[in-house]
Amino acid sequence: MDIFTIGELRKTFSNGEVKEEVLKGVNLTLKKGEITALVGSSGSGKSTLLTIAAGLQPASDGKILFDGHNLTSMTSEEMRSIRAKKFGFVFQFAHLVPFLTVEEQLDLMLDVSEVKMPKENRQQEIHYLLERVGLSHRKQAYPASLSGGEKQRVAIARAIIHKPQVLFADEPTASLDSKRSKEIMSLLRDLTKTLNITTLMVTHDEEMLSYVDHVVKMSDGLVV
Ligand SMILES: Nc1ncnc2c1ncn2[C@@H]1O[C@H](COP(=O)(O)OP(=O)(O)O)[C@@H](O)[C@H]1O
Ligand SMILES: [Mg+2]
Repeated sequence: MDIFTIGELRKTFSNGEVKEEVLKGVNLTLKKGEITALVGSSGSGKSTLLTIAAGLQPASDGKILFDGHNLTSMTSEEMRSIRAKKFGFVFQFAHLVPFLTVEEQLDLMLDVSEVKMPKENRQQEIHYLLERVGLSHRKQAYPASLSGGEKQRVAIARAIIHKPQVLFADEPTASLDSKRSKEIMSLLRDLTKTLNITTLMVTHDEEMLSYVDHVVKMSDGLVV
């Protein structure tokens, strides 16, 4: 089932007099339960496409349809609410809050996404998800004591604790070694399939493509 449809998406950045068209009419469809990887050389517009799809910056033109909502015509408050409740985010670095434990990072996200759940259920959900990402024994740990791969596992758990429909991941393995990268990709694939999420990720690494359902190549602001 198509859940996300991007049509003729354009983005122009202006620096004073100089205008640069970074997205030149991109079309892309994402299906439920599938991982799509955006690949292409640096500067081809991958992160711009991902952040516009995720409602983190506006498009200059074009349409984005998500589960019956037209994202391009939403107010910033409506967009904020969709982002917090229906989307999850993972980036190259985990960006964990240094003074919160692993379980508190996830609990904070449940507040941000306004998930209403009794305290024991929250703790159960957090425990269950940390078990799935192989970190239930690190619940009380602070980020400083975690390895790079463990931090990224926490970031992934935090990105999906509120059960988002779409997961956006911009170079989620770029700061990890090859073995850790494969573990993270296999986790992303497993979560996408079992929780029926739609995942859009950017990657530079050809080795990661065996874990995805679709590869979309970008070149100079277009899907090729
Ligand atoms: N906020 C911005 N202002 C001006 N130019 C930008 C901005 N964000 C991205 N760009 C430009 O858009 C182009 C594509 O960037 P990006 O989407 O980050 O590429 P990629 O992720 O494929 O490496 C680059 O030339 C970059 O300099
Ligand atoms: Mg990028």
